[in-house]
Formats: sequence, C-alpha cells, structure tokens
Amino acid sequence: MKERILVTGGTGYIGSHTVVELQKSGYEVVIIDNLSNSRADVVDSIEKISGIRPAFEVLDCLDYEGLDKLFTKYVGIKAIIHFAASKAVGESVEKPLLYYRNNLESLINLLDLMPKHKVDGIVFSSSCTVYGQPDELPVTEHAPIKKAESPYGNTKQICEEIVRDVVTSGAPVNAVLLRYFNPIGAHPTALIGELPNGVPQNLIPYLTQTAIGIREQLSVFGDDYNTPDGSCIRDFINVVDLAKAHVIAIDRILTKKQKEQVEVFNIGTGRGLSVLELINAFETATGVKLNYKIVGRRAGDIEQVWADPTIANNVLGWRAEETIEDTLLSAWNWQLKLREKGIQ
Ligand code: WQD
Repeated sequence: MKERILVTGGTGYIGSHTVVELQKSGYEVVIIDNLSNSRADVVDSIEKISGIRPAFEVLDCLDYEGLDKLFTKYVGIKAIIHFAASKAVGESVEKPLLYYRNNLESLINLLDLMPKHKVDGIVFSSSCTVYGQPDELPVTEHAPIKKAESPYGNTKQICEEIVRDVVTSGAPVNAVLLRYFNPIGAHPTALIGELPNGVPQNLIPYLTQTAIGIREQLSVFGDDYNTPDGSCIRDFINVVDLAKAHVIAIDRILTKKQKEQVEVFNIGTGRGLSVLELINAFETATGVKLNYKIVGRRAGDIEQVWADPTIANNVLGWRAEETIEDTLLSAWNWQLKLREKGIQ
C-alpha cells in the first residue's frame, strides 16, 4: 500500500472517479465530503469497482476543528486532492458570499493545517474558466488570466493566487493546479457518474436526461457565434482520463519530481468540439435521436475554448485517451443505470 491521500469532495463527480484511480494505483484513500451535492452510497459504488472500501467521514472543509481532528485520526496523510467546492456558475451570481466562503475558506483551512500535520502537497481543482475568452487558441498555461465572468470563476482565480502566496511565504507546501476543461462521461462500469441536483445546468447531464425522456427538449444556446457551425466550442475531457491526471500529479509531488513548488497544467484533449458536433456524436455513438432546438445565447458563455495540453503531455506524461464516442456512450450508460436504480 502506498501513501495515504485525503480526497475532499471524494463522493462527488470527479472526486469519486479519482478515488477509484488512486486505489488502482495502490494509494490508501480517506474521503471527506459534506454530501451537499453527492450521496453517501457513492462509497459503496467505489468499493464495488475497486474492491477496496475507502475511509469516509462526513465533514465540511469549513470545519477547521473537524479537519484538525481528522488529520490526527488518519495519521500520516501525505497529500490532499481538494475537490470540495461549490461549482454552479449561475448560483454563484445569486449567492456570491456562499461561493467565496465555501471555496476560499475550505482551501485556507487545508493550507493552514498542512504544515502542522506534515502533509507534503495539494492538488487543486482549477478550471479553464480562469482564461475567460482566450485571445489565442488552443490556450496554453501562459495565457493571461482574464477578469472572471462569475463569482465561481473568481474563486478559482483567487484560490490559485492563495496557493501561490502561501508557497511564496515559505510554507512547506507543494502544489499542482490542474485547470480542467469540460469534464464529461462516467466510469465504464456505470457504477459512478455525474448526479446533478435538480435541473442540470451543464450540457451533458441535460442532454442525457433529454434523451431518456426526463426533459422534453435540449436548448442549444446560440448558433450565431463566430465558429464554423455557429455553436460554442469546448474541449470535452473524459472524467476517467481527468481522474488519472490527478494520480500522476500526486505521484509527482510525493516523488519530489516537481520543478517548481507550484505547477500548473491544462487538462484537456487539445480538440475543440462544437455543441452541435457533440450532439451529432452522441446520436452516432448511442443510436438515440435527440430532441433539441436552437435558442438564444446564454449570458456569460465563452464563445470557444480548447486546451493546448502539450505541457501535461510532455511533463506529466499524461494524455487524454478515450474517444468522444466512448465517452458519450459512458454518459448514456450511466443515465440508463440511474433509471434502472430509480434515481432519475
Ligand atoms: C457547455 C456548452 C453552453 C447547456 C462551466 C464552467 C466550468 C465547468 C463546467 C464546473 C456551452 C452549451 C449547455 C444546455 C447548451 N465547471 N449548453 N445547452 O459553461 O463550458 O463550463 O461548467 O463544473 O468551469 O464554467 O459548461 O456544460 O454548462 O456548457 O447549449 O442546456 O454547452 O452554452 O456552450 P461551460 P456547460
């Protein structure tokens, strides 16, 4: 068994997939989650996939005392992957303080406790949202950080700065900031996947819920963008591929391979796909016809963004491997499994 790793938000969408990959690589995982946007039975599903039940505590990262006790209870935690955060762009506009409190304070608490408990490093979930609409595509890690479009996006920018400032202050903290593009899909076993609360805001859960009949019609937000087919372009990254990038980041921190104390990587495929192309790919992959209509633009949307993942490819030795067809099929199988379980 390799080192003990703390995964905050480990019952969530990306967190749960990452826990499985960490276990597959031999790491011992401790999950904490406040279950604000996930279910405790995800732990059972993780165990079904990996054959190993991760330690799990219901705990909020805002609970400083609780975190302090956790590090004492699970002695020897060597690194943290910090997923736990609020992530709905629209909600963040309505409830900015909730977003600033949750996302900033949870990171601050963890960074504060790391030296005391001799935790070597942290992998932080950042986002391509920090680039806004890039001037050049594909976007590299050196692109300027643009003013955030939402409080959610701003928390990602500020969190990156907090990490850098803490490291600059001389704290014994190593960090990898992973800037995710658009994570989609589910585990090939269909035992874990994305489980949004209420009406989905993101494209894929809305699309699969429409395909299965929970929603009547998918609205495509805009076909008058300056793109080949007029719809927005994104870099859709398979969630298991994304999870694997975290394991590599943890290996890198713990084997002291980092060139700098804070490193940042784009985690994307390097390919841009338009919303309409994605719908097409879904229909081809699954054989299911999708009911959709073009409507007006959604406020705050970036026109087009996709990653230059060269640094992650070369430095981490990581690359996105899954095809878009398999990824969309996995999202569809997950939706079918949810219906089977009577969840959605
Ligand atoms: C993708 C495209 C929509 C829904 C945001 C965050 C990002 C990340 C993921 C964490 C856009 C279009 C969508 C629909 C549509 N954060 N769309 N109809 O906005 O790229 O990224 O979520 O969770 O940090 O910024 O993702 O999936 O909402 O939209 O046409 O019903 O699909 O306009 O072009 P987005 P998304």
